[in-house]
Amino acid sequence: MKHHLIFQNAVVWQRKLINRTVVAPMSRVSATADGLATDDMKDYYSEFAVGGFGVIITEGIYTDVYGSKSYNNQPALVNEAQCASWEKVTRAVHESPTLIFAQLMHAGALSQFSEDTLAPSALKPVGVKMPSYGGEGPFSIPKEMDLTDIERMKQGFACGAVNAYKAGFDGVEIHAANGYLLDQFLTPELNQRNDLYGGNMQNCFRVIAEIIASIKASVPKDFIVGLRISEGKVNDLTYRWPQGIKTAKELAEEIKTSKPDFVHVAVQTGEWERDSFFADGISLASVVRQVTGIPVIANGGFHNLDKAEVALQDNHATLIAIGKAALADPHWVIKTMKGLPSIPFHRKMLWPEANLSHTRKIIKELHLENS
Ligand SMILES: Cc1cc2nc3c(=O)[nH]c(=O)nc-3n(C[C@H](O)[C@H](O)[C@H](O)COP(=O)(O)O)c2cc1C
Repeated sequence: MKHHLIFQNAVVWQRKLINRTVVAPMSRVSATADGLATDDMKDYYSEFAVGGFGVIITEGIYTDVYGSKSYNNQPALVNEAQCASWEKVTRAVHESPTLIFAQLMHAGALSQFSEDTLAPSALKPVGVKMPSYGGEGPFSIPKEMDLTDIERMKQGFACGAVNAYKAGFDGVEIHAANGYLLDQFLTPELNQRNDLYGGNMQNCFRVIAEIIASIKASVPKDFIVGLRISEGKVNDLTYRWPQGIKTAKELAEEIKTSKPDFVHVAVQTGEWERDSFFADGISLASVVRQVTGIPVIANGGFHNLDKAEVALQDNHATLIAIGKAALADPHWVIKTMKGLPSIPFHRKMLWPEANLSHTRKIIKELHLENS
């Protein structure tokens, strides 16, 4: 197993990576009520580093107090205390040769707890809130963001990135995937604006381009600034763009111009082949890779090593992100390399609560350590 491409080291962003594995961002509802990362979270993240992952991307972290927060007990990078709480996490992770990026996110219309939401247009999202994140019932109709809201939101991302840098992160990932605010700007059914932020792809992407530019202007050159995109949404898992590959290519052209350091292509369902291909051999990840030439992280069911091999071998991706398999067993890399069994993911680990202590409880109750 150790000879598998996913476990070979690589040089990306002029950094030596111990292998090509990345922990996918996973929200764990385990911060304090005021958005501080806890000691439990420090232990949780450092276990991925001990367990051999090359890069860790944190759960979605909110960036401002005006509507970015998604759920209660979500961590933040808005103020100094939150920054200091994350510093303990990054220091612990850096005891191993693993990089850690902060995922910066704005909930937009998909907040799990607030009725007072913001979005590109005043359109109620489909689906219902997630009880394991404290949500209940349908989403409310968001307020259409005016230019002041947009400006404040962009500043939140830039400040969040500066705080991430101060807290010792190696980089940030801007969350423009899975149906949250920045993805709402990219989705034709949700963005019906007729100003500079809606209409064609250049306009829909503008807010993301401005965020990337303002972050890059605020942090040192070697601080890594990536972008996460997807078609699927947490409230509409198998959503695909109506114009398919045309949209993918237009989006990739915009990404190329705004020059993030990586693009992370997510398939939340884990069904990479089913939910990410436009035609034989052409996935969203491969379109982005070919058009932009930027390192691509692919995600979605890649604990299946054959699948990961195809994605790396056929130039869909540079690195591979692992979600639920890492959540179940933070030592997945080391164990898999040695051909040892790892703790399997079980859906009860996130139900009825998606937090850290609940997952530990289920592992014990179901004796999954020995399975
Ligand atoms: C518990 C949980 C929380 C998640 N939270 C986030 C998140 O905060 N940000 C994000 O971009 N994706 C999030 N995701 C999606 C994952 O990053 C990933 O796309 C998904 O699990 C598919 O990858 P996998 O098949 O390797 O599990 C979450 C997934 C899970 C299971």
